[in-house]
Amino acid sequence: MNSSPIGVIDSGFGGLSVLRYLLSDLPNEDFVYIADSGFCPYGRRSFDEIRQRVFSIVDFLISEHNVKLVVVACNTATAAAIDSLREKYSIPFVGMEPAIKPAALSSKSKVVGVLATEGTFNGRLFKQTCEKFANDVKVVVRAGNGLVELIEDGQTDGEEIDSLLNEYLAPMVEENVDLLVLGCTHFPFLQPAIEHKFPNLRIIDPAPAISKQTINLLAVNEFHSEDKMRICRFFTTGLAEKLDAFVEKMLGMKIKSRQISL
Ligand code: DGL
Repeated sequence: MNSSPIGVIDSGFGGLSVLRYLLSDLPNEDFVYIADSGFCPYGRRSFDEIRQRVFSIVDFLISEHNVKLVVVACNTATAAAIDSLREKYSIPFVGMEPAIKPAALSSKSKVVGVLATEGTFNGRLFKQTCEKFANDVKVVVRAGNGLVELIEDGQTDGEEIDSLLNEYLAPMVEENVDLLVLGCTHFPFLQPAIEHKFPNLRIIDPAPAISKQTINLLAVNEFHSEDKMRICRFFTTGLAEKLDAFVEKMLGMKIKSRQISL
């Protein structure tokens, strides 16, 4: 089991913002990344539909790749499916956590913003996290509709991105938000564009914390792999060329992914 790979899944390219930390924090581990780009975005799909997609993906990861652990590198899929995944399968799962706690702790204005999908805001996890950690701060939420589609198209800056960022974030700044939580794994790829337009907004990307949590879970389960050459495989339910180009642009890795239908 220790030499088995770790599965990383997302509705599309977003999980790559988590994978980039996993790759540098866990140099001896093998990874299998699945982008469900053929069904992206998940943000406005029903939780039932998302659960079915995620079950098919995890079935594939277990039966074809014998994964020892799965990182659900998608806030929306975590909101829809993390409890059911833990009930249905015996391997451990890491889910995305909305980073409300660190934001609440370090906000000076005591107003924090969260940019995520509608699905994430509708989930129990987000509401509970706010109840638990946002007692003394105001949380301003905004669904980043349209951004995921542009990122899946390979765009991380430009006029369309800028105008959506302006529409979603300018009102937050007006409400005195000083810290922005990126509650969708696609959005860290927009960090340079956000910083350029809103230089006074501090940004929290939860990916490093998720990577740390993966390390902890591997340790608890005594799942750490031996020192060896790493193998990283990429699959997509969308177009392989698009995933290859995005990985090269954002992670600087030349890959040859495979298209699969699940
Ligand atoms: N990357 C995803 C997330 O973290 C979902 C984007 C989508 O498919 O709507 O929520």
